[in-house]
Amino acid sequence: MDQSLLYVSTRCHGADDGAMHVQDIVAISRPRNASLDVTGALVATPGSFAQILEGPEAHLAQLMASIQRDQRHRDIRLVDLGGRARRDFAGWSLAYSGESSRVSRAIGLLMEDTSFDFSKHVNRLYFMMRNFAQ
Ligand SMILES: Cc1cc2nc3c(=O)[nH]c(=O)nc-3n(C[C@H](O)[C@H](O)[C@H](O)COP(=O)(O)O)c2cc1C
Repeated sequence: MDQSLLYVSTRCHGADDGAMHVQDIVAISRPRNASLDVTGALVATPGSFAQILEGPEAHLAQLMASIQRDQRHRDIRLVDLGGRARRDFAGWSLAYSGESSRVSRAIGLLMEDTSFDFSKHVNRLYFMMRNFAQ
């Protein structure tokens, strides 16, 4: 069975242009995820990232090792991890809808609410992210 994970993190903008960062991330991720049989989705808001990855457990661990040491974000919080009988993003090596899409803006409002407890709203977050990969 495949495994699926969902994490949220805080973006580090540094001196570089944040929009360029995300384009770089998507460009590197698509072929690498495809070669690892991993699918998923990435949301970038002005202050945060949210990402769903699904695939073989060992391959997800390999990717997360890279993602965790990436200095373009920090405070990586795993909000969901579990087995999945069926993939939500089959066919998407990394679905990404752009930073100013309706879904990114809606998720951004959730993320910027510091009292928002992601673990209690995992299903809502999944639902919103699935929305842009239709
Ligand atoms: C928010 C975020 C999401 C990322 N998602 C992926 C991904 O899905 N797949 C991927 O190969 N790299 C992803 N990356 C890039 C990796 O962190 C890393 O730079 C890249 O995979 C190269 O790995 P390496 O540094 O171990 O050589 C992501 C980076 C960030 C900041």
